[in-house]
Amino acid sequence: MRITPSILNADFANLAAEISRIPDADAVHVDVMDNHFVPNLTLGLPVVESLRRATDKILDIHLMIEEPDRWAPAYAEAGAESVTFHVEACAAPIRLARELRRLGARAAMALKPATPIDGFADMLDEVDMVLLMTVEPGFGGQSFLDLVLPKIRRTRELLGDRPIWLQVDGGVSPDTIERCAEAGADTFVAGSAVYSADDPNAMVNRLRTLAVA
Ligand code: DX5
Ligand code: ZN
Repeated sequence: MRITPSILNADFANLAAEISRIPDADAVHVDVMDNHFVPNLTLGLPVVESLRRATDKILDIHLMIEEPDRWAPAYAEAGAESVTFHVEACAAPIRLARELRRLGARAAMALKPATPIDGFADMLDEVDMVLLMTVEPGFGGQSFLDLVLPKIRRTRELLGDRPIWLQVDGGVSPDTIERCAEAGADTFVAGSAVYSADDPNAMVNRLRTLAVA
């Protein structure tokens, strides 16, 4: 079970310090938004390049952008260990996944809550992780969508025991993480739950304990 906190709700003026508050996190989840694929704008490649220099933690980049075919490889070149693109925005997901792996990153594909997994069953071996959104992408602090639970179960069924991670993102908290784990998720993004806690690192460990239970 991996906990990968999102820094979306952290203090953007002090990102390196914010990351140092979660030493027990398995990776840092970085939400890149372009105000086109989602109605919000966050940060892009220059900030990720700076984060790469500022921390040794694994960088898990979640691209909520149009044209990931064009932009995603640069994040792998910048030294991100994992790069996630949305299938809804991607013109050639197999080609992009292969390119990301060739550049040394783990390749991951993300699906919005209403996007079915079954059309992608044949390309699962092309990726190292599947991200299932459990809110509509764009903002932190939204309520977890229980309607995604059957898709988490279905994806786990399709993955079987292949070493492909199954990540959930959106509304993950002490109240919802057990449901996700029970359905088959093994990698958990939590933004507001971690960064609104008085002790973010204690929350990381609490979430991991709940996921394992
Ligand atoms: C939302 C982002 C998430 C977000 C999660 O579009 O992809 O990573 O930071 O935030 P919470 O955990 O608050 O739902
Ligand atoms: Zn995210």
